[in-house]
Amino acid sequence: MTTILDGKKLRDKILENLKLKLEKYKKKPNLTVILIGNDEASRIYVKNKQITAEKIGINSTVIRYPETITENELTEEIHTLNMDENVHAILVQLPLPKHISKEKIIGMISPQKDVDGFTPYNFGKLFSGEKPFVYPCTPKGILLLLDEYNIKLDGKHAVIVGRSNIVGKPLMQMLLNRNATVTICHSHTKKLSEITKTADILISAAGENIIKEKMIKPGCVVVDVGIFKDSTGRTRGDVDFENVSKIASYISPVPGGVGPMTIASLMLNTVELFEKKNHSD
Ligand code: GUN
Repeated sequence: MTTILDGKKLRDKILENLKLKLEKYKKKPNLTVILIGNDEASRIYVKNKQITAEKIGINSTVIRYPETITENELTEEIHTLNMDENVHAILVQLPLPKHISKEKIIGMISPQKDVDGFTPYNFGKLFSGEKPFVYPCTPKGILLLLDEYNIKLDGKHAVIVGRSNIVGKPLMQMLLNRNATVTICHSHTKKLSEITKTADILISAAGENIIKEKMIKPGCVVVDVGIFKDSTGRTRGDVDFENVSKIASYISPVPGGVGPMTIASLMLNTVELFEKKNHSD
């Protein structure tokens, strides 16, 4: 029997606690999101973030720019937000248009307001084993979900499929911090199934429906980070849920698994940055 890792249920619990906590403060935290262009998926993500923030007492500002914005204009906007006392958390929605350097823009965000934990300062802190101001949202959400179900990580073999800065790399370090043995696989990995079959915990963030039953060790914990629409318009993840769920001990669904946890982590990070700022004033 498999157990579903219910991200919606845990998200609701986290949001309810945050709401109660924020009711006690005189000021509200502000999360400012910069959204560039008309990418459909990004617009939906940003809308969801905004609705969730407002529901729990976080002021959310969305600044929209057309695709044609220059790198300089964006740099100036981030500088303004860095200086603005009323802005506690800044998120630049990715992907950015091709003519803008993601590294340069992310590197401009003040580490104390870097709600994604993506700046070189926060990434460097994470990878050197020190505490960043906040941890990246998706890996943080995955660990919260595993902890909620008392899934032990110490000494376990965790296999991550995907090496992005958003998920794979920070997750690797966060799992190492918890004493897991970690393997990262990616699009050039040879004999992927032979590696995934040795996983006690398999986390897939490939963005393709590639994880099949024959790639899984019975009893494995399977976490699906992928979310996309297939050719019929159905929302899918990386994992063949129907068949993999027959042999996995735990499995996260898509939708309703990691996605809601990413949003919950973003709200947690916003509140953490707000609290750090107010305690240091
Ligand atoms: N685009 C997809 N996921 C993310 C994320 O976690 N943060 C940002 N800033 N952009 C994203």
